[in-house]
Amino acid sequence: MLILQKTAGTFPKPSRRKLYGVLRSLNFHPGRQYLHKLVLGIETSCDDTAAAVVDENGRVLGEAIHSQTEVHLKTGGIVPPVAQQLHRENIQRIVQETLSASRISPSELSAVATTIKPGLALSLGVGLSFSLQLVEQFKKPFIPIHHMEAHALTIRLTNKVEFPFLVLLISGGHCLLSLVRGVSDFLVLGKSLDIAPGDMLDKVARRLSLAKYPECSMMSGGKAIEHLAKQGNRLCFDIKPPMQRAKNCDFSFSGLQHVVDKIIKQKEKEEGIEQGQVLSSAADLAAAVQHITAIHLAKRTHRAILFCKQRDLLPQTNAVLVVSGGVASNMYIRGALEIVANATQCTFLCPPPRLCTDNGVMIAWNGIERLRAGLGILHDIEGIRYEPKCPLGVDISNDVKEAAIKVPRLKMNI
Ligand code: KG4
Ligand code: ZN
Repeated sequence: MLILQKTAGTFPKPSRRKLYGVLRSLNFHPGRQYLHKLVLGIETSCDDTAAAVVDENGRVLGEAIHSQTEVHLKTGGIVPPVAQQLHRENIQRIVQETLSASRISPSELSAVATTIKPGLALSLGVGLSFSLQLVEQFKKPFIPIHHMEAHALTIRLTNKVEFPFLVLLISGGHCLLSLVRGVSDFLVLGKSLDIAPGDMLDKVARRLSLAKYPECSMMSGGKAIEHLAKQGNRLCFDIKPPMQRAKNCDFSFSGLQHVVDKIIKQKEKEEGIEQGQVLSSAADLAAAVQHITAIHLAKRTHRAILFCKQRDLLPQTNAVLVVSGGVASNMYIRGALEIVANATQCTFLCPPPRLCTDNGVMIAWNGIERLRAGLGILHDIEGIRYEPKCPLGVDISNDVKEAAIKVPRLKMNI
C-alpha cells in the first residue's frame, strides 16, 4: 500500500506558500487555477527511477533519481525482472525525496504525469501502478506521458523554442528524426530499422570490456566509448557508414555492430588474447565507432532538414535543430550535428547532458506542456494501461524516401 505523507514535513514552509495553499483551496472558478501549476513527473520506463516537481515556468522545485546502471553493468545488460524489483524498492523513496526537496505536499500538485509508453513492460508497470495509487489517494488529475515526446519537449524547458522544430532523438532504445509541430503533434521522417545507437554503443563497450578500465567502471557503455575515444585515433580503422545508398532518413546500427564485432575478433587473434581481456587498440576502435555513428546520424539529419525546407515544414532560415536522448549527451556527436546545422543555417540546441539521459524533470515538464495545452489530462483513470511499444506521431518516412534528396558532402572536422 502506498503511504505518502500529506505534507512534506521535513522543511519549514515559507509563509507565501501557506498563502498560496489557502488561495488554491478557494478555487472559486472550477477547473482554473490562478497560481503556479505544479506537476509531479514520474519516470520508470527503463532503468532509472526518477521523479521531479516542475512549475509552469519551468522551474524545477525538486528532483531525485536512482540509477540502476551499476547493477546492469554487472549482469551485462538490463534484466527486466531485476529492473522491476529495483524500481519497486526505490520508487516510494524517490517520490518522497522529490516532494520533500520541493517543499510541497501531494495535495498542492496540479497533476501527476507518468511515463506509460514506450519502454520495458515490467518497469513501466511499477511507475504506473504507483502513480495511480497516488492520484487516487490525493484526488489529482493524471497525465500519461510518451517517453519520446518528453525527450523531444525538454528543450522548451531549457530554451525559448517555438514550434515547429526538428528533433533527433537518440537513446538506448530509440532513434528517430521528427518534426515537432505541437505538444503532441509529431511527423516522423525516419527511424532506426533495427537497434538504437545507444544499444549499439552499449554492446560494443561490453564486447570491448570497457568496464574493466577503473575510470569507466560506473559509466554507461556510450559514455565509456566517448571517454575512451578521446585517447584513440579513429583513422586506425576504416569503417564505412551504414546505408550510404539509401536516400531516406532511416538509420541502421546492427550492421555496424557486427562489423565492429568482427574487427574485435580479428584483433584478439592478432594480440593473442581471449574475449573479456582488454585490447590494446580499444581506444582507437572506440574513436572509430563513435565517428561512424556521428557521421551516420549527421547525414540523415542533414537530409531531414533539406526535406523539411523543401516542403516548407521548416523556415528557410533560422530553423531549429534539437538533439536529445541519452546519446545526445555525447559531445563528439553534438559536434557533427553542429556542422550540419551551420551548413543549413539552423540554430542547433541540446538540453544539458543531465536532461538528455532519462530524468523526472522531462516527464514533469511534459505534464506542464499538456496541462497548458489542455491535452490528455485524465480525471478518470479507469482502464489506463502501459504500452511497451508505441509509435510517436505520424510516420511520413515514405514521403521522405520518395523525395530521394541528395545530401551535399560536408567536411566533418569534428
Ligand atoms: O535516454 P536514455 O537515458 O535511456 C533510454 O531511453 O534509452 O539513454 C541511455 C543511452 C545508453 O545506451 C547510454 O549508453 C547512452 O544513452 N549514453 C551515451 C552517453 N551517455 C549515455 N551514448 C554516447 N555518449 C554518451 N556520453
Ligand atoms: Zn530515454
